[in-house]
Amino acid sequence: MDLRDAIRTIPDYPKPGILFRDITTLLGDARAFRRSVDQLVAPWAGGKIDKIAGIEARGFILGGAVAHQLSSGFVPIRKKGKLPHTTVRIAYSLEYGLDEMEMHEDAVAAGERVILVDDLIATGGTATAAVQLLRQMGAEVVAACFVIDLPDLGGADRLRAMGVDVRTLVA
Ligand code: PRP
Ligand code: ADE
Repeated sequence: MDLRDAIRTIPDYPKPGILFRDITTLLGDARAFRRSVDQLVAPWAGGKIDKIAGIEARGFILGGAVAHQLSSGFVPIRKKGKLPHTTVRIAYSLEYGLDEMEMHEDAVAAGERVILVDDLIATGGTATAAVQLLRQMGAEVVAACFVIDLPDLGGADRLRAMGVDVRTLVA
């Protein structure tokens, strides 16, 4: 099975000119969802990963499943204003806009081994900001894992230039 076949493309969403890669179809397909999670966790099986950091919102779904499979904790990185305790915050840009993200200041301890998980990397604005937040808190970002890479937008290369081990399943 090719995971690409389980991903739906919506033209002109959320803005004209964007080809939106919709993973709800992949999530709704039991075999495609399991295969995606299995492939995301495979490189880290047996290793010690303290925490998975998932990016709101689609990174929560995949990251939660990955954390369960690796017996790791889960850290939510959220859009601003959603977390109740003291946070660290960073502004970022993505393929179709600007936003701010936060995580709790005590969500990771210095030296913890963390893997970042999201559904997709496009410009890399979201993921590079998340890596900056995690590193600011002293985490060791072991890797950043995505189901989908949009290579023309250069995000994976931007992350690699920051010294991050980037893993993606389909392009
Ligand atoms: C999407 C996607 C990534 C980000 C990638 O999230 O899930 O988090 O865009 O884009 P970038 O590489 O250009 O930064 P979005 O902000 O649309 O949020 P959502 O998951 O809440 O829909
Ligand atoms: N996030 C940023 N660009 C995207 C795209 N083209 N499809 C789905 N999510 C995205």
